[in-house]
Amino acid sequence: MANKTHTHAQWSSRTAFVLAATGSAVGLGNIWKFPYMVGESGGAVFVLVYLCCIALIGLPILVSEWLVGRRGQSNPINSMLKVSRDEGRSPAWALVGLAGVLGSFLILSFYSVVGGWSLNYTWGSATGGVGESAGVALGDYFGALLEQPWTLFGWHTLFMIVTFAIVACGVKGGLERAAKWLMPLLIVALVVLIGYGTTTTGFGQAADFMFSPDWSKLNGSVVLAALGHAFFTLSLGMGIMMAYGSYLGQDVDLIKTARTVVILDTVIALAAGMAIFPVVFANGQDAGSGPGLIFATLPVAFADMPAGMLFGTLFFALLTIAALTSAISLLEPVTEFLEERTPLPRIGAALVAALAAWALGIAALLSFNLWSGFTPFGLGVFDLLDTLTAKFMLPLTGLGAIVFVGWFVKSEGVNQELALGGTGEMIWRIVSRFVAPIGVIVVFVSSL
Ligand code: PHE
Repeated sequence: MANKTHTHAQWSSRTAFVLAATGSAVGLGNIWKFPYMVGESGGAVFVLVYLCCIALIGLPILVSEWLVGRRGQSNPINSMLKVSRDEGRSPAWALVGLAGVLGSFLILSFYSVVGGWSLNYTWGSATGGVGESAGVALGDYFGALLEQPWTLFGWHTLFMIVTFAIVACGVKGGLERAAKWLMPLLIVALVVLIGYGTTTTGFGQAADFMFSPDWSKLNGSVVLAALGHAFFTLSLGMGIMMAYGSYLGQDVDLIKTARTVVILDTVIALAAGMAIFPVVFANGQDAGSGPGLIFATLPVAFADMPAGMLFGTLFFALLTIAALTSAISLLEPVTEFLEERTPLPRIGAALVAALAAWALGIAALLSFNLWSGFTPFGLGVFDLLDTLTAKFMLPLTGLGAIVFVGWFVKSEGVNQELALGGTGEMIWRIVSRFVAPIGVIVVFVSSL
């Protein structure tokens, strides 16, 4: 248990790895965050920029993070240290790993609050509360929920306890097996919701909104939001993918595998958009209403469809599972860091990490009610945590990883890891040295 070098899951096969990486990538980011960001940031323009960011920046950075992890065979900080030493580079590169650990901790705090909403909706759908209020007044259930600090507190606490329990016990037996069955079910649920969407009057408008761009809406903040979300949704820029890569065998083709994970993640996000917007438009709701979007809209669809109560319960239960497979990956880096840098055993390390993120999460949930007046930098604590991580920390940490691999790891090393040659090698060089880093820098600088 307290083995200090290999503390988390070791992939038994490539499939197990793809599942774990996809489990981390697919989460609230795809189903909760992506649609509301599309709604807030101008629809199809955001979608297009997001797709470019995923392909040109996200994919190469995902490959780089795995590459460092596999070569380093250790936690993100030590992997960065080891590879930079091997390459005769400054040990300061380990800061990239450290920034990642900090980022994952901050994200976990507010992620758990949203995981709590999802749990609450599962319960509320099963017992009828959500459905009733959706029928009476759209979105009232969600508004009322945000105004109850104790209720939010309770569900946030429950979500964090479950996350902690899974990480403390080890990932392999329970969660991987569960994810294998539940992820496909989530996809089925989305497909059914899209099917429902086609029967509403909002379907055409939704397709237009998501896929036919209005270029006048393009601006720096849309591009920054898309870039930040590309990092968030692929779990990049926080050492998670480095940690996961450290348990990979040499026989796995990193580029092909990254393509699989990226495609799955993207398809699920787009499907979520097409499940949600028809309902939004058919009911005259506001697409730009922000973080409450799916929580206010989907119950309307469930209230209207046959067996909606059962179906709503199932949907939110699956959403909670998707959130859990991501949350455990968020708790892992901090846990591992504490385990290796302090005398704490694994359970103690997981407990300290979870407690600290839980405490910060309380500040985040209070920003919807009791502390709504407290807005440093013009944002409440919840939005502040989200903005600081997604728009600043993740892109910069990811930039560190790709610049390191592109410029500071010798080409023989990279070629050997990626099994490249000829054209592939040239493309990789161009993308990792120029396209991806310059992309991040340009977006970043232009948005400031
Ligand atoms: N990628 C996850 C999602 O889309 C969130 C996440 C971010 C998980 C960072 C781990 C690390 O919900």
